[in-house]
Amino acid sequence: MKINLAFAPTKSSTELNIFSCFNKTHEAKKGKKAEKTLVHTHWTEDVLESFEHAVASKHYKAELGETFSLTLMNGQSAIVVGLGDKSKVTKETLRRQIATVYKAASGKYEDATIHLDGFLIKGELEESLGAIAEALHMSSYVFDRHLSTKKTAKLQSITFLTSEKKTSAKKFEEAISEASKVGESITVARNFVNEAPNILNSEVYAKEIEKDAKTLKNVKVKVLGVPELKKEKMGMFLSVNAGSAHGARLVHLTYTPSKANSKTKHIALVGKGLTFDTGGYSLKPGASMMNMKFDMAGSATVYAAFRAAALLQLPVKISCYLGMTDNAVNEKATMPDSIVTARNGKTVEILNTDAEGRLVLGDVVNYACDNKPDALIDAATLTGAILVALGNEVCGLFSNNQKLADSLLKSAKSTNEYMWQLPIIDEHRNDMKAIVADLKNIGGSSFGGSAKGAAFIENFIEPGIAWAHLDIAGIGDSQGHLPYCSPKGASGLVIRTLVNYLKNV
Ligand code: BES
Ligand code: MN
Ligand code: ZN
Repeated sequence: MKINLAFAPTKSSTELNIFSCFNKTHEAKKGKKAEKTLVHTHWTEDVLESFEHAVASKHYKAELGETFSLTLMNGQSAIVVGLGDKSKVTKETLRRQIATVYKAASGKYEDATIHLDGFLIKGELEESLGAIAEALHMSSYVFDRHLSTKKTAKLQSITFLTSEKKTSAKKFEEAISEASKVGESITVARNFVNEAPNILNSEVYAKEIEKDAKTLKNVKVKVLGVPELKKEKMGMFLSVNAGSAHGARLVHLTYTPSKANSKTKHIALVGKGLTFDTGGYSLKPGASMMNMKFDMAGSATVYAAFRAAALLQLPVKISCYLGMTDNAVNEKATMPDSIVTARNGKTVEILNTDAEGRLVLGDVVNYACDNKPDALIDAATLTGAILVALGNEVCGLFSNNQKLADSLLKSAKSTNEYMWQLPIIDEHRNDMKAIVADLKNIGGSSFGGSAKGAAFIENFIEPGIAWAHLDIAGIGDSQGHLPYCSPKGASGLVIRTLVNYLKNV
């Protein structure tokens, strides 16, 4: 989609105009009921005239999400988007409302003009503009590469029209450009997550990431295959790959900013990249196995954040590690009761081959610790239990460092993504200890499954490294309640939180 910025109405006519409208509540006074009046001082005379000309407009209250369609005197169409009480409008209000209008308009109009006055929040002009642009990028996503009839939207060009002074142009252009870099990276992640597992296996996935990363400035890529993983003694990771027809891959990307110096912070991002999770010998029942192509969403999420950070040329060094394999069954697949040795020497009794994400991540986070990052963040579709705890809508956060946890929560808040911290306590840690090996990969009871998964991974974090674990098993999947996410497929969430974190680190 093409987004243009204009400071004066363009000569070429637009098909659709999008305006906002607020309302104001007047308290009940003696003998009079409370009433709401419309607030639209940002409209031009001709819009107001057309609106009032429409007989039914007298019923319009501009409640949040309430729209009103009209034809302007010049013959162009217009949609008025109700935003309710102006003082309550947030960036998320804008994202959701713009996404809803986009969906209603994308099949009907070829181009549209968003009249920004009345959409941008006072004191947060660029941020709200960025949120609107982000919402457009996220809403216009479709996964139609396997459809014989493509879902190409009619609406391909959107103009942002503002009466702000031309001096804002640079900042506005920057906000739009930043949103498209993040938006484009979200699309890359969603495409990976939505791709079928017979097409996107670990070998193909690694190659595709390598190809994409080659287009980025100041980025280096290294891919470790099975022989290298053996050399690295990643016994846990390899045990998951044992039953696979495809070789495991560890993609190691590094972004070094142009002006790096000794004060430059170094952040490590680690992602679970299970291109499919059958459960292994501890086979998942059919219904639970469905959609397990999305078990690589953690890796796609951290890669997208890494990619956006590189496109934005952020002044932070980032190492990104993606652990790729599927969890399949053949005669070589790891059997429950197997004991394997992790990269850091700890022995692990694999009691359930379906608790495989932690085996891959344990070895990969340990590898990531070698470079002594200032913080290490992993993202993984790790546990079904996080859905029980936090629902489909909230990302679970675990950490050994409250400062890091707080920074992530702050980033989630400022990008309006839901994230909630959960504890790792000694009782959880103790439940991951085995009798015949140092550790086992599942707890004695299935309660608190997400925290126990996190407690397991913690065993492979080297002392002194600040670490946070994001369990995205709920949030990585489609978010039907968000109009800027598809009702089915990859959500593309958490990427904005991570980019915000990397921007502020
Ligand atoms: N990939 C799954 C987690 C998952 C489950 C994601 C449901 C999305 C929806 C993970 O590998 C897994 O199977 N975890 C097990 C762990 C258990 C065996 C301790 C789970 O959650 O059941
Ligand atoms: Mn599993
Ligand atoms: Zn899994």
